[in-house]
Amino acid sequence: MPLVPLQRILGSARSDGYALGYFEAWDTCSLEAVLTAAEEESAPVILGFGAMMVDGTWLDGGGIEILGAIGRSYAERSSVDVALIFNEAHTLDQALRGIDAGFNAVMIDTHSWRTEDAIVAVRELCRAAHQSGVAVEGELGSPAEATASGVDHSHASLTDPDEAARFVEETGVDCLAVSVGNVHIMMDQEASIDLERLRSIHERVDVPLVIHGGTSFPRAAVAPAIALGVAKFNVGTVLKHVFWDGLESSVRSVGANPDVHQLLGSHKQSDVMRIAQQRMTTKVRSLIRQYGGSGRQVMVAAELSAR
Ligand code: 13P
Repeated sequence: MPLVPLQRILGSARSDGYALGYFEAWDTCSLEAVLTAAEEESAPVILGFGAMMVDGTWLDGGGIEILGAIGRSYAERSSVDVALIFNEAHTLDQALRGIDAGFNAVMIDTHSWRTEDAIVAVRELCRAAHQSGVAVEGELGSPAEATASGVDHSHASLTDPDEAARFVEETGVDCLAVSVGNVHIMMDQEASIDLERLRSIHERVDVPLVIHGGTSFPRAAVAPAIALGVAKFNVGTVLKHVFWDGLESSVRSVGANPDVHQLLGSHKQSDVMRIAQQRMTTKVRSLIRQYGGSGRQVMVAAELSAR
């Protein structure tokens, strides 16, 4: 099935009162785990890969193209609607390469950039992306980030609603990631969300809003956030944790003289990746349900391929 425009599935989510998850994958196993979850829940989904934690040299040496090819080949075999994003590119150049690599949505990680610099780069990205039918996610404001020694607020800034309106107007982005108390990569506690700020942004900005830091986003704030314009939650850290725990328990259960051909790469139940993948699928399914996406499959892709 062809990829579905991100704007199209975010628009349906917004008008029907649910949100989509972007469940960040890092390789074929994790991508497959996300897609399986979406198919089992009969839910549209945003597949993709993020650059934030990935070595820039690897990305620039062909990694972006490899990730794009993997993502497209899974998306094309999907039985649910899929958009494919290259998330948090380090540079404009990487995001542009994401377009050529086959992603149909791209984003630059501009959270630490001066607003004016971000506007210039994101406007240029929108111009190139829109010509190729690719969506662009913008970002204004910088969520705090969890570190080994606690939450680091030193580079954090909340999204200013008027600035957000100007950013969207001047760049032409299709959706906007905001900072309203959400915290990146935090596992052990919930973030405290400023719903009033979200309401003010929603009143001034008409594109769908995006929340990064889905791992620590409080469950109780999900429905209010959706009612205030959020149509996409980005989730990463918790997925790596459940995958890791599954992998660790399968490796620990292997006795002496491991049958490496069954344990690695067999894709059978004996493959050590299977338990990890299944745990990740279970987690993604529960998040899809939390965001109200279960059973929302509309098969925009079938309609597009019939044209
Ligand atoms: P978490 O890792 O906090 O879930 O955030 C993921 C994210 O925002 C990816 O863009």
